[in-house]
Parts: sequence; structure tokens; C-alpha cells
Amino acid sequence: MNNAKHQGSSLYTPIVPCSHLNMSISNGMMSGFLATVVVVLESFISFVTFLLPKWLIRYFTRLTRVIFRLVSDIPLYSKDPIYDAFIKEMGTPQNEEEDKDDQDSDEQTKPQLYATNGSATSEEATRDDTISLIKKLKNARSIKEMCSCFGYKVQDYLVTTQDGYLLTLHRIMAKKPHSRTGKVVYMQHGLLMSSEIWVTMYKERLNLPFVLTDLGFDVWLGNNRGNKYSCRHLTRPIDSEQFWNFSIDEYSMFDIPDSIDYILKQTGQTQVNYVGFSQGCTQGLAATSLNRDLNDKIDKMILISPATTPHGLSNPLINSIINLSPEFMFLLFGKKIILKSAYFWRDIIYPPLFIKVIDWADQILFNWKSENINYMQKFVSYYHLYSTTSVKSAVHWFQIIKSKRFQMYDANKNSSDFQTFQFPIENGEGSRRIMVLFGTSDSLVDIQLLQKQLGTIEQIVPIENHEHLDLVWGTSVDTKIAPPICEFLKPGGAPDKDK
Ligand SMILES: *[C@@H]1O[C@H](CO)[C@@H](O)[C@H](O)[C@H]1NC(C)=O
Ligand SMILES: *[C@@H]1O[C@H](CO)[C@@H](O)[C@H](O)[C@H]1NC(C)=O
Ligand SMILES: *[C@@H]1O[C@H](CO)[C@@H](O)[C@H](O)[C@H]1NC(C)=O
Repeated sequence: MNNAKHQGSSLYTPIVPCSHLNMSISNGMMSGFLATVVVVLESFISFVTFLLPKWLIRYFTRLTRVIFRLVSDIPLYSKDPIYDAFIKEMGTPQNEEEDKDDQDSDEQTKPQLYATNGSATSEEATRDDTISLIKKLKNARSIKEMCSCFGYKVQDYLVTTQDGYLLTLHRIMAKKPHSRTGKVVYMQHGLLMSSEIWVTMYKERLNLPFVLTDLGFDVWLGNNRGNKYSCRHLTRPIDSEQFWNFSIDEYSMFDIPDSIDYILKQTGQTQVNYVGFSQGCTQGLAATSLNRDLNDKIDKMILISPATTPHGLSNPLINSIINLSPEFMFLLFGKKIILKSAYFWRDIIYPPLFIKVIDWADQILFNWKSENINYMQKFVSYYHLYSTTSVKSAVHWFQIIKSKRFQMYDANKNSSDFQTFQFPIENGEGSRRIMVLFGTSDSLVDIQLLQKQLGTIEQIVPIENHEHLDLVWGTSVDTKIAPPICEFLKPGGAPDKDK
């Protein structure tokens, strides 16, 4: 494995050649078996997570570092000085733990790390700042800490949904008071994520909420029930099955409309602009289908990498998981949180290996290459990628993929007897204006189907050679994503201008 050298792009090569793995599981029976193994392993890990003492975790991190060095063809010293310094610091015995609390220790190690031929240049100073910013963002425990790295303050608001869940909304404070125009932008994250995904970019101008705030918009970030910031209910305990008994239906029936109503009440505005990423788009469209009057409360709707009805995934392993019956899924994963062990892996694995694992998983699952995301950026973004959600949400997605219909959760055992409600997302009613941004290499977006579902889309922005996550975390967010969005959001923004 370690002799698989790829010229120039050694940082991005997966640990295991994927083609080999694809071939070995092309057989249906075999992949069904593998799917079960993966699922059982997952349940086992999430059980074991609670038993491990801290010293053992630290030991495991060291062990994975050794394994990483053995199997990886990433050289200890690449051409990227930031990566070199970052890795070198992680390789020293005193790491991670100290990094979190003790910024001073950085100062002492710097001179050794960047000792060159004498003169400390301003370039080096910038590099030091970048590294400490990346570390700070990576280790940040909340969105408040993340935003404060860039000097933005965040206000939290607690929304109580009609069915009793408590959701946190974050409102980004403008740096210059009185610079707000009042126009509201509401941003909604995707599946298995939290609001943190919007502010992970270590280059400030690549964070869309900051760009919009600086333009005078009143930016609010939503959080789905069950994620890191919305894990309370008035009566249901968090460890009960009732608490986790929700799917995309509940996001659409309660979370989105209740959050938007709350924002309108707080701000005194009559409309918000809705920006969704991935499932955030799905929820927005489903919500306007189920609450027709919500259409009047949304002015412009911006859909980034919208996933409404993904065509089946090409990987046979995943397809066999998708084809498991919901009962079997619930039996294996339980009826509460899905992939809870992600937190465990994230904290325990040596960071460069963790990044490889995520890249590798994305490649296997979706055939993404993740080449438009800066390698150092992954050290931040991938650490703020996962947040908890219900098993039922995943099962709902599987149902949508399997039936090829954008529909509500199908609770009936025998769907031929009962018709499941399909979201009527055509853009006939209301005044909302829709913009879609999608990557042309995104395996989860079916733009033809979406066009058919929506009818009229005011503006479609295809981004060449971009994948799903690239539209929020790619290096070209500031050149390819943010400008058309800002233009579209401008009061009376006339996107049909020729440019
Ligand atoms: C040493 O300094 C010179 C110019 O002063 C510079 O061109 C060169 O890249 C430096 N070498 C290293 C290793 O930084
Ligand atoms: C989950 O919700 C459905 C209705 O949406 C209800 O019929 C079912 O009993 C609930 N299950 C649990 C465990 O609360
Ligand atoms: C589902 O419906 C079909 C016909 O409508 C029936 O023959 C079959 O027994 C039903 N299956 C279950 C599990 O109810």
C-alpha cells in the first residue's frame, strides 16, 4: 500500500485503493453481509465509547499515528510549510491536550519550528498566525468560539417548537453597530450537521455568514432538533425513544416554520431570505409544501447543493444498507441517534489519519475526490462536520432514494395499500424567488429532476468540477459562490443582468 506513490498529489490518495474494494463487493449477498458487519461494528463502538478511560484514548491516538506513518505515503515534510509545521507540532509528545487551553506554549515552540536562515520574515509571522488560527478553530467547542476567532459576536435565541423541542438560533452580530439594513438571512445546515458548518473557513472571507453580515444583512443560523445545539425537549428526556422519534417531516412541519416565525417576531420584519445547504434545502422546500403560508414569509430562497431526490448511490455496499427494511435498520442502529461513534473516532484518531478516513469514506460512498477543499482547511471543517441526528432521519432518506420520490416518512408496513404524501414543491404559489447553486460533479444533486420538481427557478449557477461539500468549504467560495449569492440577495437584485 505504501508504495502507491502518486506524483504531486500524494496528500489526497486514499489509504486503500477503492477500485479494489468496489470489485470485491460487487456480489449482492456479499455486500448485504458487509453492510450488516459495518452496522454491527458501529453499534459495538458506540457502546464501547462510554467505557474507555482517557489514558487509553491518548494511547490509541498515538497508536493510530504510528499506523498512519506506516501505511501513509504522506511525507513528514511536504512542500506546504503550514502543513509541515502543523504536523511537526502534532508529532511532539506534548500535544492536543495542551493546545486546547494553553496558547502560551505555542509561543515557545515557534522559533524552533520555523528556524530558517536567520531573518524572521513577515511571511513567517503570517504563517504562525494561520497555524494558530487553524488550531483554535479546530479545537473550538462552540460556534461562539469559532466566530470570536474573527471578531464576530453571536447571540443565541431559544425557540420552542409547537411540539415542544427547544432549538437554538444563532444571530451574528455586525462588527459596526448600525450597519444592519434589517434584511434577514436565515441559513440552514444539512444532514448530520450543525450551524457550525457555516463558519469553519480559516480564511475569513470564505465564511458566507460573515460576508453577508458585512453587507448589512441580519444573519441567523438555524439548528435542527436533536443536534449539538438543539438537544432539549419540554417533557421528553434526551435518552428516550420518543425524543429521537423524528424525521425530515418534523423539521419541515415544526423546526423551519417555527424558527422563521420566531425570527420575524424578533426582528419585526415580514420576510426572510432562506439559504439552505443540502438537506437544509430539502427542509425548506418540504416546509413550504406543508405550510403554504410559509411561502409568503420567504422572499428569496437560495439552494446550495440541494438534495431532494438523490438517485441511488453507485456503491453496492451503501445500496444494500439502503435496501434494508426500516425495521432491520432500527434493530441494528437502535431508535435513537445514528452514527454516534463519529465523536469517538474524531477524538481518538490521529488528525491526518482522521482526514484521510473522511476523504476515503466520501470517495467510497459518493465518489467524491474532495480536491477543491484546501488540505489544511480539512483540519477545521472535518472536525466540525458531524452532529447528532435521529436514525429515523436516515431511514427517511433511504426511503426517498429507494422510492425515487420526494415524500414524507412512510410509516406503513405495506405502502401499496396507503399512499404516502409527496411534497408538492413546484414553485407556483407565493412570491419566493429561487436560486440554485450546484456542483457539476455532485453525485447527490439531480438538477434535471429538481428543475422538473420546482418548475421555475430564477437562476441556476452550475459550478464546474465541484462536489457537494465544495460549495461551502471549497477554495473558490469567495469567487464562485458568494458573489452570485450576494448579487441575488441585493434589494431588488436583478440576476438576469448579463454577467
Ligand atoms: C534564506 O534567505 C534567502 C534570502 O534572504 C531566501 O531566498 C531563502 O529562501 C531563505 N532560505 C530558507 C531556507 O528560508
Ligand atoms: C413516533 O411517532 C409516531 C407518530 O409520528 C407515533 O405513532 C409513534 O408511536 C411514536 N413512537 C414512539 C416510540 O414514540
Ligand atoms: C400488502 O398488501 C398486499 C396486497 O395489497 C397483500 O397481499 C399483503 O399481504 C400485504 N402485506 C402485509 C405485510 O400486510
